[in-house]
Amino acid sequence: MFASDGKSAVKSSSVRRSLPKVTEDALDEPGIDLSRFLLVYKFAIEEVMTKLRILGEEFDFIHRHDPIEHVTSRVKRPEAIKDKLRRRGLELDLDVIAEHLDDVAGIRVVCPFVSDVYRVAQMLTRQNDVELLLRKDYIDAPKANGYRSLHLILRIPVFLSDRVEHVKVEVQLRTIAMDFWATLEHKLCYKYEDQVPADFAEELASTATIAAQLDARMQALHLRLH
Ligand code: GTP
Ligand code: MG
Repeated sequence: MFASDGKSAVKSSSVRRSLPKVTEDALDEPGIDLSRFLLVYKFAIEEVMTKLRILGEEFDFIHRHDPIEHVTSRVKRPEAIKDKLRRRGLELDLDVIAEHLDDVAGIRVVCPFVSDVYRVAQMLTRQNDVELLLRKDYIDAPKANGYRSLHLILRIPVFLSDRVEHVKVEVQLRTIAMDFWATLEHKLCYKYEDQVPADFAEELASTATIAAQLDARMQALHLRLH
């Protein structure tokens, strides 16, 4: 079900191997140890992935319905971090990254039904060690282009050998239909770089409406069973 195998005891050598590749370009900034910094975000992702796995498995055991279809995650690549800092006119500094970039650690949770999206979000955010910093409900209020998803910016403690770090994680929750649309929209609009022709955008927005209708009809069928 999950992209991660969920093992809790990971040897540090294998952790380092699975870190995003740090290019020479990213390393040549004096005083910036980005790879060590990003390790903490990888741990934060592992913690949230474990929480999601437990929630999904237990919910399935009790209700005979797994509210999670699949989960993917990524630590933002150093090049992408630098690009985003540049775009926002921010300096390359670890404290600046920690404070201003919410999506260094990113998790995408794909659920079968809309009700599962809200249920998983609720079960996750009510945990004592999970701080909810920001909630953007693009399902209730879709973006102008038709994009729908529930976005949460969380902060969770990561217990290290000599300190505790409080780390931000962006969690995007969506249905299979929302994920289908967002994935294809990204592919279709990529080459336009924000210059999407009006008729193209209109047609895409109308496909988003169809995806939303599909979600509503599937939700109604689901309700008849549960
Ligand atoms: P970023 O600076 O890009 O992170 O945007 P933001 O700070 O305004 O946050 P927002 O919650 O709107 O979007 C964050 C992420 O959601 C993006 O990086 C995408 O992964 C996803 N997303 C948001 N809008 C769209 C969209 O229109 N299409 C697709 N495919 N994904 C989107
Ligand atoms: Mg982003």
